[in-house]
Amino acid sequence: MARTWGNIFFSLLDYKTEKFVIAKNKKVGVLFRLFQLGVIGYLIGWVFLWKKGYQETEEAIQSSVITKLKGVDLTNSSQFGLQLWGAEDYVIPPQGERIFFVVTNYIVTPNQRLGYCPESPKVPDGLCNYDNECVEGETVIAGHGVKTGRCINDTGTCEIHAWCPVEHGQAPSEPLLSKAENFTIFVKNFIKFPKLSFSKSNVLPTANKTYLKTCRYDKDHHPYCPIFLVRDVINWTGYSFQDLATKGGSVGVGIEWNCDLDKDESQCNPEYSFTRLDSSINSQNSVTSGYNFRFARYYNDAAGQTYRNLFKVYGIRFDILVNGKAGRFSIIPTVINIGSGLALMGAGVFVCDMILLYMMSKSSFYRETKFEAVTKKQSGKHRERKHVRHHGHHRQDGRHKREEKQATEMQPLTSVSCQPNNNPETQIKPTASALKTHSPERKPQGTVSFRTQHATEKQKNISPVSTLRTQRKQ
Ligand SMILES: *[C@@H]1O[C@H](CO)[C@@H](O)[C@H](O)[C@H]1NC(C)=O
Repeated sequence: MARTWGNIFFSLLDYKTEKFVIAKNKKVGVLFRLFQLGVIGYLIGWVFLWKKGYQETEEAIQSSVITKLKGVDLTNSSQFGLQLWGAEDYVIPPQGERIFFVVTNYIVTPNQRLGYCPESPKVPDGLCNYDNECVEGETVIAGHGVKTGRCINDTGTCEIHAWCPVEHGQAPSEPLLSKAENFTIFVKNFIKFPKLSFSKSNVLPTANKTYLKTCRYDKDHHPYCPIFLVRDVINWTGYSFQDLATKGGSVGVGIEWNCDLDKDESQCNPEYSFTRLDSSINSQNSVTSGYNFRFARYYNDAAGQTYRNLFKVYGIRFDILVNGKAGRFSIIPTVINIGSGLALMGAGVFVCDMILLYMMSKSSFYRETKFEAVTKKQSGKHRERKHVRHHGHHRQDGRHKREEKQATEMQPLTSVSCQPNNNPETQIKPTASALKTHSPERKPQGTVSFRTQHATEKQKNISPVSTLRTQRKQ
């Protein structure tokens, strides 16, 4: 038993290496080489060079956007007269957010006071012919106030208690703030990739104050200038300022950071893109496109009475969208990608094996060569045949040694004690005679080889033990 465990232990220390069958088949050989080339090309070209598979990447970009607009415009409307619009007036909200609205057109209803006046004819619920259609105390659905119970014949609408007069009129067909096209947007964008501990801003450290005062972003000439002209931004979306300014619209400014941190930091720069967000090609003139909302400014007159100016403003909403990813060399993705490439090579071996062994005219021949059926009883015979084939008569010395070794191996198994005999010649003789009479199983050890397999089959039943017994007698 101890001996067996020992054997197992020592066999653990053996190194096993695979034995290969070389198929001299040009078709499959070329196919396999092509496959290997393909895999290597894929691995180097696509995975490593194109997709930068050797890098650890991070897409969770953290960013902050601060905006500031500059420019003024003087407007002159029939209801309201002259008005000066500064950034504090036309940027809503004014605190410089990522999403901001620039007023380009408006309808103002000045000097509204709480009182009684007819509802606007644009509100369906406010229309009436008789007083009983205007129930006192009811609010006008989607209207401006509360019904008083009177129907006013001049307008055909109910009288309401509201901020009077109610808003009326159409949006001007030309944007009132026409100079808005020359307003500038200064975008400050700070980004950070926390995992790769990298941070940067779109305002380059090399940019000085005078440059920032005069430069205007341009894809070709000033790609790193953070100041944008409103007109340019809209033109780059494929629309004109006029299209958006009259009825309003929504524009997306994309800032894309694609950083290869294996290169110098100065190579990591933002790329801007511009798109109109509120319109598909078909809905250019539909109800859905455009953007407006209302707000009011309240005042007290000399008598202490409150009044207000109501503004309905049309304008362009800017939405600054930041995204990006960064990558830096890391050993783990590199190893994983190489490993998966090698695994793909294994797939090539499998495919070529399948073709070679099952899909070719000579497949059965290759199968016979590759697969060696080994059953317990025949194993000895297989070995013996090989020995005969490979070692001719002129290699007797080698054979003697092997025989000697096998004889000693037999000892513990059969518990037959043999005299140690180091002389190969004396060892051979009894074995040979034993073989002659009884044991075909020991054929390879003998100098006399059996000529026919038939004899081997016939005497298969004789066990090695009996062989040894004969040996001992002699
Ligand atoms: C905007 O500026 C350009 C040149 O800077 C000028 O030609 C154009 O008239 C300006 N637009 C408006 C509406 O004033």
